[in-house]
Amino acid sequence: MSEPDPSTGSGQDLEQPVEEAARLIHLASHVVALVGAGLSVESGIPPFRGPGGLWTKYGEPDMQGYQRFLEDPKDWWEKRISRTDGYQELIDALAQAKPSAGHAALKEMEDLGYLKHIITQNIDNLHQEAGSRAITEIHGNRTKLRCLGCGQRRPLDQFPIDELPPTCPDCGGVVKSDTVMFGEPIPQDAMEECINQTQVCDCMLLVGTSAVVYPAAGFPLDVKRGGGRLIEVNPNETPLTEMSDVVLRAPAGDSLSLVVSRLREIAGAR
Ligand code: APR
Repeated sequence: MSEPDPSTGSGQDLEQPVEEAARLIHLASHVVALVGAGLSVESGIPPFRGPGGLWTKYGEPDMQGYQRFLEDPKDWWEKRISRTDGYQELIDALAQAKPSAGHAALKEMEDLGYLKHIITQNIDNLHQEAGSRAITEIHGNRTKLRCLGCGQRRPLDQFPIDELPPTCPDCGGVVKSDTVMFGEPIPQDAMEECINQTQVCDCMLLVGTSAVVYPAAGFPLDVKRGGGRLIEVNPNETPLTEMSDVVLRAPAGDSLSLVVSRLREIAGAR
């Protein structure tokens, strides 16, 4: 695989910011990556906002999704099974997606011992498919179901769906997709791990997120408040650009691959 060209389509020469990003990561003791839809754009999955975004095209879902599920989980499941729950474009893209160069770069950054954890807003399971290990999925995982009673998660085919809505064989609780719906609270275990990671993080990579959805968008603010550094990886500006110490204004695949090859050199020289 050829090394990406440091002079990006966005015209920013990446050489200096790549050098600075690698230096900050090398000096840090606990690097965490906060990841958004932009990382999976290069895997063929559309983002939510901005040009070509799903919400841009179809409108952002209202915040009552979870409430409607609780009021009539049978109806929700019937729509899901008959595939009339919409967003076919997203469902098809998710089904075909493969990890991108950006996913591979994060995996290698973990293997090199630099990246300690990934907090992903993506539900696409592509970090796992790329081989990353330390992952918290703050918005859940599309390949899993979750019991609202005991909170346990299982792969899609391991919760019996004989009757609708499916219920948990252990506690009898209603089972839903593990993905977090609009209006649904973030599952406690995921939220606790995000807070733990943010508290010990002294350098956060902001990869492909528009940083407008909370609580995820608040974690970089906590890192900065704690004296940590922020490295933004995004072809477009975000509300976090101004407080970022380094900005890689380029697609994640290119910029993260360049950072990892620089870290490989530094690690080799160790
Ligand atoms: N590399 C890096 N970043 C990219 C790329 C790329 N190749 N392509 C686009 N981006 C950036 C865009 O500039 C934008 O800032 O990715 C960001 C995508 O933003 P959103 O679509 O808003 O996605 P995200 O931040 O993950 O949304 C957060 O909102 O709708 C909810 O649950 C959904 O998890 C999602 C959350």
